[in-house]
Amino acid sequence: MARLIIEGGRPLQGTVNISGAKNSALAIIVAAALATEGECVLENVPRVGDVGTICLILRSLGVEVWFDKEGLLHVNGRTLSRYQAPYHLVRKMRASFYTAGLLLARLGRAEVPLPGGCAIGSRPVDYHIRGFSQMGAEVTIEHGFMKAACERLKGTHFYINRSSVGTTVNLMIAASLSEGVTVLENAAKEPEVVDLAIFLNGMGAKIRGAGTDVIRIEGVPSLRGIEYSIIPDRIEAGTFMCAAAITGGDVTLKNVVPEHLRAPILKLEEAGVTIEKGATELRVIASDRLLPIEVETTPYPGFPTDLQQPFVACMTVADGTSVIRETIFDRFRYVDELRRMGADIKTERETAIIRGVPKLTGAPVEITDLRAGAALAIAALAAEGTTELYGIEILDRGYEGFEDKLRALGAAAKREETIEGIDIFAAESPLQA
Ligand code: UD1
Repeated sequence: MARLIIEGGRPLQGTVNISGAKNSALAIIVAAALATEGECVLENVPRVGDVGTICLILRSLGVEVWFDKEGLLHVNGRTLSRYQAPYHLVRKMRASFYTAGLLLARLGRAEVPLPGGCAIGSRPVDYHIRGFSQMGAEVTIEHGFMKAACERLKGTHFYINRSSVGTTVNLMIAASLSEGVTVLENAAKEPEVVDLAIFLNGMGAKIRGAGTDVIRIEGVPSLRGIEYSIIPDRIEAGTFMCAAAITGGDVTLKNVVPEHLRAPILKLEEAGVTIEKGATELRVIASDRLLPIEVETTPYPGFPTDLQQPFVACMTVADGTSVIRETIFDRFRYVDELRRMGADIKTERETAIIRGVPKLTGAPVEITDLRAGAALAIAALAAEGTTELYGIEILDRGYEGFEDKLRALGAAAKREETIEGIDIFAAESPLQA
């Protein structure tokens, strides 16, 4: 167990390199195992906990996956041979369910545990399952597993009830090797979906329309390995933009696609932050107290739910009242921790009303989910005094070298192992501490 200790009050300054997109990497690493000819070599893969988990799951299915000395990830799917994904790994992360699409496409059989609830509420996979059934798989739910089997998946015309990134990714992976044409209506338009489509097309797939809400996938008999570089992480970029904004900093982000950050950029500008845009970099300059904003999370190109928490953190010290509406997940549990730092936030169902206070104060806080961790760290950077963030391994699931990057920008941030105290059951003397 480790904690992150942040001493607040220093404006962030300097340059930060944004890592590859976690959500893209998770989809692409699984899709890479569709290839039966040659291996895939992936560049710009972030070294984060969730990537480690997906690699271990693929290994358990027989896929060869390893990082070379240059940090490139090799995926060789030819050896894929087992169809049951292990619960102890799948339970850690919802994107593990992408292995269902892979296994059905490659082996015609998949047994994958259903992801349970998580800290941001109930997150079902019913759309994914309905999609597989409509593609001809026989699906049953038994003992907590989705068990599905088919000869070869068949193309279909499928409407995704609610624009869902996971469903779009899983069905694209499954449909790439299917018989006939699959059309996904109301598909997710996120940049990570487009990245996956470009990658799959490079492998020999026939996908059109990614980035619009109708994606057409013509199944092919086989796919081949390629080299590919993953897009930059727009959520990590948005997180550092918020960190710069709340501290009155001046930070240049390198390796970004400004186009992917249109909504967050506009909202930060509305909050009084100056943003200079280059082709692959962004400079964020914030000198005055932030102004309040109103925003609602919606699927891309709308304002991303993954940046809701970092933005709420920024608004806790804005000069006025902000209203932030969360329409995708149940994602406000962490505000209790912000309140412990002095934030004035009221939540009513899906709306948070944040009355800006002049100052937050450092406190020990608990990270409840990945983006909540980012929000608490951002708040800590601006707070007076020291904040101790517990549950830092949750932050490690999605941010590469988070505190190193913060330190390089001038933050006082360090990781410390927590001492869990004595084992009371093993203690032999009342004086042991
Ligand atoms: C992905 C992202 C996550 C992001 C989210 C929304 C990955 C690995 N994760 O999550 O960071 O916050 O998109 O942009 O890429 N839903 C159902 N049934 C389903 C599937 C989804 O009801 O079968 C609902 C969800 O509960 C949610 C909405 O649809 O309310 C959108 O979820 P979805 O886009 O699927 O999120 P994820 O793919 O899990």
